[in-house]
Amino acid sequence: MAKRRYVSFFLFFVISFSLLHKSCPQSTNQSNDEHQILLELKKHWGSSPLIGRWNSDSAAHCNWGGIACTNGVVTAISLPHQTFIKPLPPSICLLENLTHLDLSYNNFSTSFPTLLYNCSSLKYLDISNNAFAGQLLDDINSLSVMLEHLNVSSNRFTGRIPPSIGRLPRLKSLIIDNNQFCGRYPAVDISNLSELETLTLAVNPFVPAPLPVEFGRLTRLAYLWLSDMNITGEIPESLSSLGELNLLDFSMNKLQGKIPTWIWRHKKLQYLYLYGNKFTGVIEPKFSALNLLEIDLSSNQLTGTIPDGFGKLTNLTILFLYNNKLNGSIPPSIGLLPKLADIRLFNNMLSGSLPPELGKHSPLGNLEVSNNNKLR
Ligand SMILES: *[C@@H]1O[C@H](CO)[C@@H](O)[C@H](O)[C@H]1NC(C)=O
Ligand SMILES: *[C@@H]1O[C@H](CO)[C@@H](O)[C@H](O)[C@H]1NC(C)=O
Ligand SMILES: *[C@@H]1O[C@H](CO)[C@@H](O)[C@H](O)[C@H]1NC(C)=O
Ligand SMILES: *[C@@H]1O[C@H](CO)[C@@H](O)[C@H](O)[C@H]1NC(C)=O
Ligand SMILES: *[C@@H]1O[C@H](CO)[C@@H](O)[C@H](O)[C@H]1NC(C)=O
Ligand SMILES: *[C@@H]1O[C@H](CO)[C@@H](O)[C@H](O)[C@H]1NC(C)=O
Ligand SMILES: *[C@@H]1O[C@H](CO)[C@@H](O)[C@H](O)[C@H]1NC(C)=O
Ligand SMILES: *[C@@H]1O[C@H](CO)[C@@H](O)[C@H](O)[C@H]1NC(C)=O
Ligand SMILES: *[C@@H]1O[C@H](CO)[C@@H](O)[C@H](O)[C@H]1NC(C)=O
Repeated sequence: MAKRRYVSFFLFFVISFSLLHKSCPQSTNQSNDEHQILLELKKHWGSSPLIGRWNSDSAAHCNWGGIACTNGVVTAISLPHQTFIKPLPPSICLLENLTHLDLSYNNFSTSFPTLLYNCSSLKYLDISNNAFAGQLLDDINSLSVMLEHLNVSSNRFTGRIPPSIGRLPRLKSLIIDNNQFCGRYPAVDISNLSELETLTLAVNPFVPAPLPVEFGRLTRLAYLWLSDMNITGEIPESLSSLGELNLLDFSMNKLQGKIPTWIWRHKKLQYLYLYGNKFTGVIEPKFSALNLLEIDLSSNQLTGTIPDGFGKLTNLTILFLYNNKLNGSIPPSIGLLPKLADIRLFNNMLSGSLPPELGKHSPLGNLEVSNNNKLR
């Protein structure tokens, strides 16, 4: 009895409190506020193609170009290609439900906009293809803990990638290619990001170092782009655990040793780029990676013959094996591939005759086989 009375007393309190709160006349209208914030944003950035059409007379800012709302509340701003120059204004984080911010392909040139640390709902941040410069700071993990996609590709960021990047636990994409990041990248910390599906570190002047064994923990990776970043040594066995890979690009590095046989067993693999390395040995003749669309192993030191097994890759469109030391003849099975569009085998030691069926079964647009000593 005493307990029940206590409960009803408590309920009375809660209800009257919430009524009081609702009827409170100066309670703010989030929609009106957001309208004002967006107009401020327009004033700040000036009349870009899209923002120029934002009309202060129209209250329906949720219909403005580049704006998306959920239940009348602004959740997304997508303003790529607007040639914005002026730095991001702090007011942007007053849009407290902002989850998606795309400012790619503008002309920002400040340091990383740390004011975005205040956007606590942010899940998607794309500031790629600008001229942002300077370092990412150690407190980069002050970005929203909700963050799933971080794209800072194609800017002018320098310095080391801070280890705290590994403390954004929900990251699905980490896209930091094409910057001036240097030193060592924090491989152990990155490999703590167990949700990661896309990882690009390509085209950054890192110091020479082997592929991190720890990346084998990132078993959800579908897209791994690690070109042109001074990678040495062999491809570690641990990466055989990356069974979800769709794209594997280790091109333009200093990798050596054999191309591991497990690569040809990744059933989801469609794009395999290992060109411009120092791989040796023969190409594994047993394939089960039958979904491959593009293979580029050019400019290595591969020996032995072109495996007949390539003829099983019925979706293959591109086969580049030029600048190697391959010998033997071109397997006739390749001539039967129905989608093959471009095949480049020049600068090898191939012999025999070109398969007569080549080009009869597919829209072959390009065939380059020059500089093979005994090919007829
Ligand atoms: C808030 O303002 C918007 C736009 O002026 C209006 O449509 C909406 O009805 C207002 N909401 C409340 C709860 O007053
Ligand atoms: C907006 O965010 C606030 C604070 O996180 C939350 O209480 C509110 O429910 C959100 N509104 C909508 C419409 O999602
Ligand atoms: C913005 O950057 C693009 C590409 O870098 C450049 O062509 C353009 O002139 C720049 N615009 C302004 C207004 O600075
Ligand atoms: C976040 O907002 C608070 C209050 O508006 C401000 O004092 C602080 O400097 C902001 N933080 C950043 C990193 O801009
Ligand atoms: C940046 O990365 C995100 C997340 O993966 C992706 O959706 C987006 O297309 C990328 N931006 C550009 C300009 O490629
Ligand atoms: C990543 O995990 C390792 C151990 O598993 C730990 O030592 C390290 O501090 C973690 N890094 C981050 C950024 O959480
Ligand atoms: C490779 O490392 C060297 C030495 O640290 C550096 O000078 C060079 O820019 C790096 N090259 C690439 C392609 O990253
Ligand atoms: C080839 O592509 C088709 C359609 O794009 C797909 O259904 C098929 O699973 C792919 N793989 C193989 C081995 O044919
Ligand atoms: C190809 O070259 C290897 C040595 O690298 C040799 O053992 C083999 O007999 C050659 N095969 C053909 C078909 O010429």
